[in-house]
Amino acid sequence: MGLDILEYRKLGHLHVSVIGLGTLRVFDVTDESDLILRRQIIENLLSNGINFIDSAAMYGASEKTVGITIEGKRDQFYLATKVRVEGKEAGEQQIAQSFENFGVDYIDLFQVHNLIDTQTHLPTLERLKEEGKIGMIGVTAMVDEAYPEVMEIMRSGRIDTVQIPYNVVQREVERGILPLAEELGVGVMVMEPLKKGRYVKELKSKPDLTPLKEFGVETWAQALLSWVISDPRVGITIPATSRPERINENAVSGTLGILPQELRDYVREETVRLL
Ligand SMILES: NC(=O)c1ccc[n+]([C@@H]2O[C@H](COP(=O)([O-])OP(=O)(O)OC[C@H]3O[C@@H](n4cnc5c(N)ncnc54)[C@H](OP(=O)(O)O)[C@@H]3O)[C@@H](O)[C@H]2O)c1
Repeated sequence: MGLDILEYRKLGHLHVSVIGLGTLRVFDVTDESDLILRRQIIENLLSNGINFIDSAAMYGASEKTVGITIEGKRDQFYLATKVRVEGKEAGEQQIAQSFENFGVDYIDLFQVHNLIDTQTHLPTLERLKEEGKIGMIGVTAMVDEAYPEVMEIMRSGRIDTVQIPYNVVQREVERGILPLAEELGVGVMVMEPLKKGRYVKELKSKPDLTPLKEFGVETWAQALLSWVISDPRVGITIPATSRPERINENAVSGTLGILPQELRDYVREETVRLL
């Protein structure tokens, strides 16, 4: 069963692996011993065909760590990051710093973090796009109350992608953002597919994987990731990890294809039962 190879989907004009990498907390490191593990993570991304990394100016040393660990391999990844500050000049400075941190002269996707001062940053990002320094513009939002504003910006035609939480418990985007994204052709990136790891690490007991085994799911993290990307309106999800072996584990979910509805329901019900 499944596709056997990692699936790629459209995200704006990019062709991205359906599983990417998030770097919040896990790439905020500076010690050489920590960098060794992050280099191994990058190697494992490449060997699995994962081609997308998301970071942000506000993730401590993450952008720098991405820059250091992809040195010489930059052309094998799409890089996304975010501006999160108020004011035009402060925004321009932070954006310039992201280029420096990554050590690149082109960033594939620049997002406005949690809609902070969006109307100020959009013209800056639009100018950079016109100058060929960034490829796409996006916004991120993580609370339901922000979604009406996200949808208004989507309708304005000024953004290529949205990044939102979507997982077995947080499903608000099914009501507005996902249908609108499909209608407008806006790319959807899913943050927190494992709710910061909680839906794997903090369950009351071990979930029963038996019904999922036939589909190729071997771990609960794979079940949860598979649940997310089984909605075809999702372009990519970006689980973060500090452990290289989990890149291999998470990549498997991108090779399984779309979960049948009854298994998708099972993954949601089993997670809720054990929370
Ligand atoms: N507002 C925003 O724009 C925003 C907000 C939140 C997140 N994001 C983006 O979305 C990305 C993902 O969100 P997130 O990092 O908060 O949460 P997440 O991806 O749901 O969970 C990450 C956690 O899950 C654990 N994990 C990963 N794979 C696992 C596996 N196979 N088995 C068990 N545990 C596993 C990791 O722990 P280990 O290190 O122990 O593997 C890590 O601590 C972020 O890194 C960031 O890039 C954006």
